[in-house]
Amino acid sequence: MSALIPFEEKGLDQTSDRALIVHPDLGSLSVSALEYRLEEAAGLALAIGLEATSVRHFSVRAPKPGTLFGSGQVEQIGVILRQEDAEILIVDGTLSAIQQRNLEDTLKVKVIDRTGLILEIFGARAATAEGRLQVELAHLDYQAGRLVRSWTHLERQRGGFGFLGGPGETQIESDRRMIRDRMAKLRRELSHLRKTRSLHRSRRQKAPWPVVALVGYTNAGKSTLFNRLTGAEVFAEDLLFATLDPTMREFPLPGYDKAIISDTVGFVSDLPTQLVAAFRATLEEVTSADVIVHVRDISHWSTEEQARDVEMILRELGVVIEEGEGTPIIEAWNKIDLLNEDNAKIRSLPESTPKNVCLISAVTGEGVEQFVQKISEQLSRNHRTDTVKLSVSDGKRLAWLHENGRVLETEQKAEDLIMAVQMSSRNWGRFAAL
Ligand code: GTP
Repeated sequence: MSALIPFEEKGLDQTSDRALIVHPDLGSLSVSALEYRLEEAAGLALAIGLEATSVRHFSVRAPKPGTLFGSGQVEQIGVILRQEDAEILIVDGTLSAIQQRNLEDTLKVKVIDRTGLILEIFGARAATAEGRLQVELAHLDYQAGRLVRSWTHLERQRGGFGFLGGPGETQIESDRRMIRDRMAKLRRELSHLRKTRSLHRSRRQKAPWPVVALVGYTNAGKSTLFNRLTGAEVFAEDLLFATLDPTMREFPLPGYDKAIISDTVGFVSDLPTQLVAAFRATLEEVTSADVIVHVRDISHWSTEEQARDVEMILRELGVVIEEGEGTPIIEAWNKIDLLNEDNAKIRSLPESTPKNVCLISAVTGEGVEQFVQKISEQLSRNHRTDTVKLSVSDGKRLAWLHENGRVLETEQKAEDLIMAVQMSSRNWGRFAAL
């Protein structure tokens, strides 16, 4: 039972399989939050090519250790599965390995939980070597957690004499060792890739082009905006998580030679912890950006919840998002072409919010020019030009300025260099501390 399933073979069939989605309602969500979760779950299923036959919620006040749902509910789910001719059951919650296995045995369909589903999507979408390694690492982490759980379960079944040993236990032990070894190898490969990437980054910092990072809820329109700004053909599709790997390109920015824009993975509520950890490194681009653009699908009925989820993840990544502190954030309220009479009032809302907001449509291009102007303003507000006088022999400070700032002019007077330097306020602070 504990045989390891090779990572590559675990993927779901990419053809349109029919899946029933059930959400275990633990009573912690409001009615509107619940609706939002159900719709999102269907979107997640679609992202991996599964067709949701229906999305339902079951009240689970007292979760059953063996099956999560009560026995009457399991029976009911079985009936619905047959009625709707679904071959997969997606449980939009967390299942233990035992619960998953018991449900599969009883219902005779493949059962997958929310974390498993998101891992599948990420696995199918990872496009670069680094993305693939990260997903595999997250997947193994998820599997390792399940082995530990089933192991303690076995132990309990046998009366808790864990020291007795036995074939099952040996098998699990060796599985765990295999997973540990493979994870260690993946971590080494990842750290090698990251070193290369941070080399690239420091080279880029030497050429002092500002970096703009796009973040946002999945499907908000980041790739579409990215393509419009850069003329690049990034996979933009009406699917969740179409983008998994950060993609960086140059784009023309008024007042600067050019700027670099990076498109990042879309966020989603309740991102599995394994994935937040795995993608922390990829999202380094976000934490080191000069401006963060939070792209929002303003036409989506749960746009506020989505924005809160994104902000929560940004905080987890250590990005300060309070107004006036940390990296400046611009909110791009996207898809204004989709606003109808009901939500047209959104157009006048930016006036009343303290946030830095732009209304745009990445598809029609409306508002994009003003948006680019705003990025430029934001950068120059944050960047100050000053004159610095240094001795020609002060190699350390000279190198630092060239690395972290933009040296616009240099004039030599005897033993001194008079330089006009443009830098962010943060870097001026760091320079003062040198
Ligand atoms: P992830 O990769 O999942 O993070 O998505 P994303 O944020 O990169 O979204 P993407 O650019 O792939 O766009 C998602 C869908 O929204 C696509 O079908 C786009 O054509 C559509 N879309 C994006 N911007 C707009 C817009 O301004 N108006 C309209 N009508 N559709 C848009």
